[in-house]
This record gives sequence, C-alpha cells and structure tokens, in this order.
Amino acid sequence: MSREHPGFATRAVHVGQGPDLATGAVVQPIHLATTFAQEGIGNHGGFEYSRSNNPTREQLETCLASLEGGRHGLAFASGLAATTTTMLLLGPGDHVVYMQDAYGGTFRLFNAVMRRYGLSFTAVDATQPGAVEAAMTESTKLVWIETPTNPLLRIVDIAATADAAHRGAAHLAVDSTFASPYIQRPLELGADIVMHSSTKYLGGHSDVLGGCLVTSDDTLAGRLRFHQNAAGAVPSPFDCWLLLRGLKTLALRVQRQSDNALTIARHLQSNTAVRTVHYPGLPSHPQHQLAARQMGGVYGGVVSFELGDEEAAVRVLEALRLFTLAESLGAVESLAEHPGLMTHSSVPPDERARIGLGGGLLRLSVGIEDVDDLLADLDQALHQAS
Ligand SMILES: Cc1ncc(COP(=O)(O)O)c(C=O)c1O
Repeated sequence: MSREHPGFATRAVHVGQGPDLATGAVVQPIHLATTFAQEGIGNHGGFEYSRSNNPTREQLETCLASLEGGRHGLAFASGLAATTTTMLLLGPGDHVVYMQDAYGGTFRLFNAVMRRYGLSFTAVDATQPGAVEAAMTESTKLVWIETPTNPLLRIVDIAATADAAHRGAAHLAVDSTFASPYIQRPLELGADIVMHSSTKYLGGHSDVLGGCLVTSDDTLAGRLRFHQNAAGAVPSPFDCWLLLRGLKTLALRVQRQSDNALTIARHLQSNTAVRTVHYPGLPSHPQHQLAARQMGGVYGGVVSFELGDEEAAVRVLEALRLFTLAESLGAVESLAEHPGLMTHSSVPPDERARIGLGGGLLRLSVGIEDVDDLLADLDQALHQAS
C-alpha cells in the first residue's frame, strides 16, 4: 500500500487480501485443507493442522487486527465461542465484573456455565462512573463491558473503565459488536481485548456465524492463541472467506446503516404511540456527548423504542412487511424483534425488569435499503397496531 498509514476502508479491502501469489487471482482462494505437508518433522511453512492455523483464517485474523488497530487477531466459530475462550484464561476463585445489560447469551454463559467452574461474577451498571471500581475485589481478573449495549443502546465510557480495571490489575474486555471497528476502536481507548460477534456487522449479510478477539498485548495474545487451539472453537475456512468478503464493504454498509438509523430514530420520536426512542445519535440520549466522542459521530444501525405494552409491541412486529421479524442484527436487510420474548428471553424476568428491558420494547436492526421505504413500513405498522 502506498501511503504509510492507509485509511480504514483501504485496509478493509487490502490487508491480508492481496492477489494470490501462485495464480494472480484477485480474490484469495479458500484453503480447505485440514493438514499441510511438512518437509521434515516440525519443518513447515507456518501451517500444520487447520485447527491450529489455516491460511484463510490467518488472512481474516490479519485484517481484523488491522481494522481494530491491534497487533493480534483471533477468529472463532461464533461470538460466544470468542467469549468462552476469553473466559478460559480464568480459573477457580477468579472474579469478573460485567455490564449488567450484556447480551443475553453472555449473561447465560457467565451465570449458567462459567460459575460451575469456580468463577464468580458481579453485574454492575457500568454506565455509572465508579460502579466498576466499587465492585472490584482482589480476585477481579477481568472487567467485561459491552457498548453500545443490546438492546437499550446504553454507552459505557471505555477509557474511564480501562483506567478503573487497570488500577485493580484487571484486564478490560469490550464487546464492541454493536459498533463495529468502523465506528469504535476500544484498544485505542485503553481496552486490553476487543470482542465481536462477527455474525453481525463484520459479516454483514446474515450468512455466516463468527466471532473474534483482537488484542495488542503479546502475552494475552499467546494465551488466547493457546486456548483457541486447545478448546478448538474455530471457524471453517469458508466462513473465514465469507467474513473477508464482508469486511471489504464494512465501511460503506455501516455508514449507510447509521444514516438510515438516525433518520428512523428521529422519525419515531415524532410518533405519539412511541414512548421512548433509544439511539445514541439523538441529542436526547442521556449519554449522547460520550457517544459522540467515543463513536466518532457515527452511531450504528440499531434503534430500539418503547410502545405502551407487550401487546402493542407484538402487534407492530406482526404488521411490519419490509422489516423481517428475526433475531440478529448488523446485516444489509432490516430486521425487527422483541428482545423480551426473543434475544433476551434467557435473561430471567426480574433481571430484565432491573435493567429496564420492558415488554413494550422493540429492537430494529436497520439495513441499507432506501430509508423512505423503511419509514413507510414503520408508519403503516404503527398505524395498524394503534
Ligand atoms: C452484543 C453481542 N455479543 C455477542 C453475541 C453472541 O454472538 P454469536 O451469536 O455470534 O455467538 C451477540 C449475538 O447476538 C451479540 O448481540
């Protein structure tokens, strides 16, 4: 690349993805091989067995690291596989402080699985200054936050939380799935590990499950790499290739999704049936100033909003025609869902009530369609349901 520091969109297209040296093919081949010839025992060109490393996965990991501004990227079979592998760094007696409205599957992994292995967890409202530090103990090894949160789009101050974690000698991991590296790069703000469900914006087409971790800490990277291989929750070469293809358009997609989402959030605010709109790009969002600073003025494609009750929310979902009723987010097509009944149903009802996730809440994942068509669909659904 000709400039010393190529821009984000250039790196998304080129890093790890140059033409194939053997054939000149502009698109890299998919290396399906599970094993690689060795010249002598242990004498090979960097690849021996595909669980440990694979050329297509390595290309993806190189590109991911570059986009997050980190030194090491690691790809996994899903977002939860990436989170699980991070947890494998801990042992019995270790304590984790985590964001109370983390993704429902993260909550389930921590509380229904990892507790059985002797880890303990404390949930805090990490949006409140001082809450993380107050919950840390001498055993706290990891602070886990998500920002923006799913589905209430709350914002956590990454730099301040990194300082708090480091004062207590803990690492900070940030689930940055809702932002994507186009919008927010936690490592630059002091985080030790950034995690993504690549299933979402990174893939961007609802056709591949994946997860990733990026870090600039060589020791952490070595331990994560060991557990990536030891536990084996790795993605297939085809999935890596699909993700590489998705990354090439990440900047275009996320910009368009964010533009559409802001227009929709503003429009929903003017509808009398809508009680509250949650979107960090709205000046009415309680943490708009922090979001503007941390997310560089682009706020992502997820908007959530509250109607009077669960019945009204379900009626709107059923009346939508262009928005597809489905879980997940971050892809080119617009989706709508009911967090309480769908993505967050694994969070116990009292916990949902505590974090403010009510029955009238709907979540939109805004795609790249013409925004006027999306507005018209929402208007007709809200009108029919009222
Ligand atoms: C914020 C967030 N983190 C993690 C995950 C888990 O990722 P995956 O479904 O790829 O395992 C999700 C999935 O919805 C998510 O939304």
